[in-house]
Amino acid sequence: MRPIVIAVICLCIPKFSSEYIVKPDYKVRQAESYAVAEDAKLLVPELLKKYGYPCEIHNVTSKSGYNLVIHRVPYGKEGSTTNTRPAVYLQHGILSSSADWVLNQNNGLLYSLLDAGYDVWMPNVRGTRYSRKHNTLDPDKNAKQFWDFSWHDIAVDDVPSMIDYIIDHVKQEKIFYIAHSQGTTLFYVMCSELPEYNKKIRVMFSMAPIAWMGSMTSPLMKLIAMADWIVGPFLELIGMYEFLPQNSFYATIGDILCGDNSLLQPLCANALFAICGFNKEQMNETLIPTIMGHTPAGAATKQLLHYAQLHNSGQFRKWDYGFFGNIDHYGTFTPPSYNLNKVTAPVYLHYSKNDWLSSISDVTTLSRKLNNVVGKFTVPDHKFNHVDYLYGIDAYKLLYARIISLMKRH
Ligand SMILES: *[C@@H]1O[C@H](CO)[C@@H](O)[C@H](O)[C@H]1NC(C)=O
Ligand SMILES: *[C@@H]1O[C@H](CO)[C@@H](O)[C@H](O)[C@H]1NC(C)=O
Repeated sequence: MRPIVIAVICLCIPKFSSEYIVKPDYKVRQAESYAVAEDAKLLVPELLKKYGYPCEIHNVTSKSGYNLVIHRVPYGKEGSTTNTRPAVYLQHGILSSSADWVLNQNNGLLYSLLDAGYDVWMPNVRGTRYSRKHNTLDPDKNAKQFWDFSWHDIAVDDVPSMIDYIIDHVKQEKIFYIAHSQGTTLFYVMCSELPEYNKKIRVMFSMAPIAWMGSMTSPLMKLIAMADWIVGPFLELIGMYEFLPQNSFYATIGDILCGDNSLLQPLCANALFAICGFNKEQMNETLIPTIMGHTPAGAATKQLLHYAQLHNSGQFRKWDYGFFGNIDHYGTFTPPSYNLNKVTAPVYLHYSKNDWLSSISDVTTLSRKLNNVVGKFTVPDHKFNHVDYLYGIDAYKLLYARIISLMKRH
């Protein structure tokens, strides 16, 4: 009970009293880490340039006016070839950005795809640091309107806009869609709400798939879910529409999760790792300060609350406006569920036993609801966790190699 009480209290005070909760040595340690990692400060195009890769910046405006940035790496270090390279849409997860695929220098999924001959497009959805812009709304001055979206809104607007842009640009009929975490949710929502997009996808790879969340085990997400009836209204009251709690909040959570002064402790104090956990054996310590500089990359509070709703309801369904709000928006007392019968593009599921967010039983539910699962694989490492899909030391051996060999069949 104690950690829950502490965490609830912390959740309520981050805006008001950072001095009380921050441990002095924590800040110093964090500052030192930042100082040693140049890569923590560079933006994705600068990082790619530094590592010797070409990077194009593409701007796409969604139908609702968000200015989105896609980072594209058309070919690898060795330069362009005359062959047409099949395009891959590589979708990051919540609190992340295109940096997910780039930071793990030479070992990230981006580099494996380039070596295998693909043209890689890395979109940044609305609200992330690269796409924190709108035709008319200012993310700070018009926070309430700007941040009034969940992943549903991203899935039916940003993702299809970017897919259309890419298809138009590369002149290929279909593209590969590879995603991590929330990136997979976006795909399932898009293909059930806008089924015409199924035919634009060659094949989809879900890494750590997220749709049903009833069995999720992340303590922090469970806590938010448990109190979502109070957390939502409270965050609205203090005007926190953007999910960017101060470091002090996570410093405290970090102390609860990790306790000791290990090098890994800063991770526990980062929103992403506080929610997803981490696995010491797959974590490259040299990379930690760099990851800290790029994550969390920004998200709307509503995205997290919508996941909390999924956990509570045990259903994969639209945003819950409450009894009267639902009647108003949907004409029903409860929000409508997504109809996964409409997802007809072929899907591969890659999941793992130790994932705090994507549990085996929830993935099993998802795979029963999908019509076209062409393969289902558990990562052969029982400790593999949610973020190891991005940064895991053995991610190539355990996962990427298999994905690439499967891609060759489609
Ligand atoms: C996208 O926008 C950025 C900044 O607004 C600009 O520097 C860049 O040239 C644009 N890219 C394209 C392809 O238009
Ligand atoms: C850890 O990350 C550093 C910095 O990117 C890299 O040089 C090193 O090879 C990585 N080590 C492993 C075991 O992947």
